[in-house]
Amino acid sequence: MFPKALATAGAVCLVAGAIALPIAFRPLKTAMAASAAAPAYNKSGELLPPTNYREWIYLSSGIDMSYAPKAAGMQDHSMFDNVFVNPEAYRAFLETGTWPDKTVMVLEAREARSKGSINQQGHFQSGGVMDLEVHVKDEARFPGKWAFFSFDSVGSNGTLIPQGAPCYTCHTAHAAVDTTFVQFYPTLLPIAQKKGTLSAAYLKDEAGTGAGK
Ligand code: HEC
Repeated sequence: MFPKALATAGAVCLVAGAIALPIAFRPLKTAMAASAAAPAYNKSGELLPPTNYREWIYLSSGIDMSYAPKAAGMQDHSMFDNVFVNPEAYRAFLETGTWPDKTVMVLEAREARSKGSINQQGHFQSGGVMDLEVHVKDEARFPGKWAFFSFDSVGSNGTLIPQGAPCYTCHTAHAAVDTTFVQFYPTLLPIAQKKGTLSAAYLKDEAGTGAGK
């Protein structure tokens, strides 16, 4: 499916999270803190959960994406990840090919099952959210303009992941547009190509692997 180098560029975020978190996760709560799309924080700098992200714009799903060439025995079960972005930011991207201030992107992981109902082949998404991570653009607040937050459960506040963590390194080094993985979001990649907003790092990756077609 994906050229090898791209298929392996997947998220350590997902794999690592999938191991520890299932127990901690509870079913979605109906009433949660933040409902507006703009990022909001509490006094200690935690990100309030983007409660209605399931009503936002759907960008893509990956299955078993991993940066490591082969899952080292740790991924016994398959996982989907689903990516969403707030509608205001999506519309701005359509115009400009890049993200405006206050963009909020959500990545959630769910178990991929194959046995269930009438299914005979392939995988479907099942059960609750196993992992939730958010990528926020808040230019005045974060030195690198963007920050990552991780969530222990869907309704909890997000913990800031410090600058310098591998999240930032990989996204900066490989993501196609403004530290986000637009190369995996099929409705957005053509727009970035047309608007000329692809990152130098991504173009270099593509030239190196010859995967640019
Ligand atoms: C080795 C590379 C790599 C590392 C490290 C990594 N990611 Fe990602 N990340 C990806 C890829 C690839 C995608 C695209 C996923 C898809 O297409 O479904 C992605 C997508 C995301 C997204 C969706 C929005 C976007 O920016 O495209 C979030 C949120 C995210 N990652 C959070 C994190 C967090 C938090 C960490 C650190 C705990 C992390 N990532 C570490 C590769 C990485």
